[in-house]
Amino acid sequence: AMTVTIKNNEDIKKMRVAGKLASEVLDYITPFVVPNVTTEEIDRLCHIFMVNVQDTIPAPLNYAPPGHSPYPKSICTSVNNQICHGIPGSKVLKKGDIVNIDITVIKDGYHGDTSRMFYLGEPSIQAKRLTEITYESMWLGIKQVKPGNFLGDIGFAIQTHAEKNGFSVVREFCGHGIGKVFHEDPQVLHYGHSGQGMKLQAGMIFTIEPMINAGKKDIKMLSDGWTVVTKDRSLSAQWEHTVLVTESSYEVLTVSSGTPKPF
Ligand code: MF3
Ligand code: CO
Ligand code: CO
Repeated sequence: AMTVTIKNNEDIKKMRVAGKLASEVLDYITPFVVPNVTTEEIDRLCHIFMVNVQDTIPAPLNYAPPGHSPYPKSICTSVNNQICHGIPGSKVLKKGDIVNIDITVIKDGYHGDTSRMFYLGEPSIQAKRLTEITYESMWLGIKQVKPGNFLGDIGFAIQTHAEKNGFSVVREFCGHGIGKVFHEDPQVLHYGHSGQGMKLQAGMIFTIEPMINAGKKDIKMLSDGWTVVTKDRSLSAQWEHTVLVTESSYEVLTVSSGTPKPF
């Protein structure tokens, strides 16, 4: 059964703090995302920053939802045709790559979850267009957030923009309620129909994190049990914010000085 928690003022204050800290990890790591760095070095730097500077807990480390082995690292790094949950390792980032870095911190018992795309050197025209359309899709979804609107309005806005531009929306992974729990109800699909699904209420907090493929929507799971890639090996992009439903509209909680401007 679906149990959506409505956050009170105390919860919301703490979620603002956690959201800002998650975003600040992305600000911190940005200058290190350059050609010849390995994804495990990015993970190491983020881990040290979270644990020793912020006094936050990296939520992914040892995270083990039902049917999964414990996640072995502190962040996710998904490169090129990797859709999500890429495990940092010995892979060397090179000029022309695109990478999503996904950060979830726990502060004072509350989760902040956000991701951004990074270019290594100059991206191809296709990689840049995919990354930008995915960013716009996330924001068109965010702008649907207000009391009385429906989860389906978010999914419809994202899917329409992605498909209008010739891209496809990954179906197997979605946004999620978040608070004291990393992944809670509701599921926030990145496709759907206006006016369908749960009605939004002030005090809900959930992520919007569309995964958009340059080719077909189909996925494949790698043998590590975590890394999800495009079946057709096409590029994939993702952006993520944690969003509060306010009395009249929305508030993005995962903001810091380095957050890219809204679309
Ligand atoms: N941060 C991801 C999300 O947006 C979840 C990562 S779970 C992990 O929901 F175990 F892969 F890290
Ligand atoms: Co995330
Ligand atoms: Co998330």
